[in-house]
Amino acid sequence: MSEQTVLVTGGAGYVGCVLVPKLLARGHRVTAYDAMLYGGDGLQKHPRLTVIEADIRDTVRLSTALAGVDAVIHLACISNDPSFDLDSGLSKSVNFDCFEPMVVAAKTAGVKRFIYASTSSVYGVSDAPEVTEDHPLIPLTDYNKYKGLCEPLLLKHQAKNFTTVIIRPATICGYSPRTRLDLSVNILTNLAVNKGVITVFGGSQKRPNIHIEDISDLYVQLLDEPAEKIAGKTWNAGYQNHAITELAKMVRDVVAREFPERPAIRIETSPTDDLRSYHVSSAKIARELGYKPRRTVEDAIVDLCRAFKAGKLPGSLTDTRYFNVKRMKEVAFR
Ligand SMILES: NC(=O)c1ccc[n+]([C@@H]2O[C@H](COP(=O)([O-])OP(=O)(O)OC[C@H]3O[C@@H](n4cnc5c(N)ncnc54)[C@H](O)[C@@H]3O)[C@@H](O)[C@H]2O)c1
Repeated sequence: MSEQTVLVTGGAGYVGCVLVPKLLARGHRVTAYDAMLYGGDGLQKHPRLTVIEADIRDTVRLSTALAGVDAVIHLACISNDPSFDLDSGLSKSVNFDCFEPMVVAAKTAGVKRFIYASTSSVYGVSDAPEVTEDHPLIPLTDYNKYKGLCEPLLLKHQAKNFTTVIIRPATICGYSPRTRLDLSVNILTNLAVNKGVITVFGGSQKRPNIHIEDISDLYVQLLDEPAEKIAGKTWNAGYQNHAITELAKMVRDVVAREFPERPAIRIETSPTDDLRSYHVSSAKIARELGYKPRRTVEDAIVDLCRAFKAGKLPGSLTDTRYFNVKRMKEVAFR
C-alpha cells in the first residue's frame, strides 16, 4: 500500500519512540502528537516527521493536526494502573472522556483508519487456560475499565470509509529511546543489572509479554492490510506468557551472561496480595492476520542489558522519566 500521513497520539512515549522511526522507514509522513510528559528527546528529527506538543483533550489543536491525515494510531494515555491513584479525574479525562470526541474529529477530518491501542489487562484475573477476545472484561482498575470502555465507542463509528481496529497488547518489554522501567520484564532487568538483587512479589502470577519491536511492527502492518481484513476487529497481541518467577530466573540468567564479571544475582521473594494472573491467547491474530511475534522475552532482556552497557539509560534507578507514576507526581499534569 502507498505511503500515508499517519498521526500517532502519544508518539513520544515508550511505544511511540520505536514505532515512529518504523513508520518513517516505511515511507510514511508522521505527526507525533504528544503532551511530552516524559520529554520529547526520544524522537530524532526527520524531514517527514512533524512533532506537535499538545494535549489530546485540546480539540482545536487536535482537529487542526488531523487535517490531511490518512490514519491515526492512538497511543496517548495515562498508562500505568497505579496512575489512577494519583488523580482519577485527570486519568479519566485523558483515557476516556476525550476518546469519542477524538474519534469523531478524526472521522470528520476524513481519516480513513483508526487504530486503538487498548490493553490485554481489560480481562482482569482469569482462570481460563487461554483468555481469548470473547472473554468477558472484568476490569480491576480504572485504567483497565476506561481502556475497555473506549472500545465500543470506537467500533460504533466503523464505516466503509472509516476502518476501526483494536489491539489489546500484552505487557511490553525491551528498549526504546524512551524506555519505561515500570513494566515487569524491564523492572526486573533494571534491578538485576543495577542492584544485583531481584525482588519478586508473589511469583506464581502469569503475565503475557510482547517485545516492543514486535508490537510496533504490528501497528505498521495494520496500515498495509486491506480494510476488509481488519475493519471492526479486536485482537490480543502477546507472545510468551510466563510466571513472574520464571521471568526473574530468565533475567538472572541473561544478565549473568551479559555481565560475566558480576557476582551472582540474587532473587528474593516477598508475599503479595496482588496475585492477578492471566494467560492471554494470541491465536486469533495469528490465524486471521498471519501476525506472529518474532522476538522473545530473552531478546528484550539482552537489548536492555546492552542499552545499560552503552550508557543509554542513565539514572535508571532514580530518574523519574522512566517511571510513569513518579513523573506524573513530579510534573503535576492537569
Ligand atoms: N507499555 C505497555 O506494556 C502497554 C501494554 C498494553 C497497552 N499499552 C497501551 O499502549 C499505549 C502506549 O503505551 P506506552 O507504554 O508507550 O505509554 P507511555 O506512557 O510511554 O506513552 C504515552 C504517551 O502519551 C502522552 N500523553 C499522555 N497524556 C496525554 C495527553 N493528554 N495528550 C497528549 N499526549 C499525552 C505521554 O506524554 C506519553 O508520551 C497506551 O495507550 C497503553 O495503554 C501499553
